[in-house]
Amino acid sequence: MEFVLDTADIDEVKELDGLLTIAGVTTNPTIITKSGKQSEEVFAQLADYLKPEQKLFAQTISTDYDGMLAEARHICGLRPKNTYVKIPVTRTGLRVIKAAKAEGLGVLATAIYSADEAFLAALNGADYLAPYVNRMCNYCDGVGQVVGLIRMLAAQGMDTKVMAASFKNVEQVRELIAAGIQAVTVQPPVVHAMIDHPGTEIAVAEFTENWKNAYGRTTLLA
Ligand code: G3P
Repeated sequence: MEFVLDTADIDEVKELDGLLTIAGVTTNPTIITKSGKQSEEVFAQLADYLKPEQKLFAQTISTDYDGMLAEARHICGLRPKNTYVKIPVTRTGLRVIKAAKAEGLGVLATAIYSADEAFLAALNGADYLAPYVNRMCNYCDGVGQVVGLIRMLAAQGMDTKVMAASFKNVEQVRELIAAGIQAVTVQPPVVHAMIDHPGTEIAVAEFTENWKNAYGRTTLLA
């Protein structure tokens, strides 16, 4: 299972990559604009930091066929390998996915709001599918729809990976991991919520206090 960070914040990437086993980083246009940096700077920082085996995902901005395909080639050329273009599953996007795969580019189909859109993108060859779980909850049972998508792909013997995105709480992430999802991309606030359970801090403080009261020190080695 790939655990991916959904952020353009290089400091968050460095901190969380030090703590966890991170398979890669996804960005989207909004995340990049919120960083206050130019996209070139964000991609350069991420490409410089990530190990070759860690994946980088960046999204097209153009909405026309030629523009999207040109941007797809540019994005996939940012690093020698493990770099994927994120293509929204509009009608034009579906055509671009077919063309990009015909050229051998790595593709993540994104802005997915239904299992139907996702499945059609998978048939066009997308390597990853990114359903927007929390946003889907405005229309349906987002988690349930993604569980259905995982089953659809398995039933058809397709190896396309589902990388769910747009999580707003740890419960959504947990349910999809339990359902066997291949990848999740999670924004730092939700990752921090997964890491930091207050009970753990309380337990450690209690151990330390008891040790100190009994032995007069806060270390194992005297
Ligand atoms: O990267 C795509 C996805 O994570 C968007 O999330 O929070 O804008 O719904 P959000």
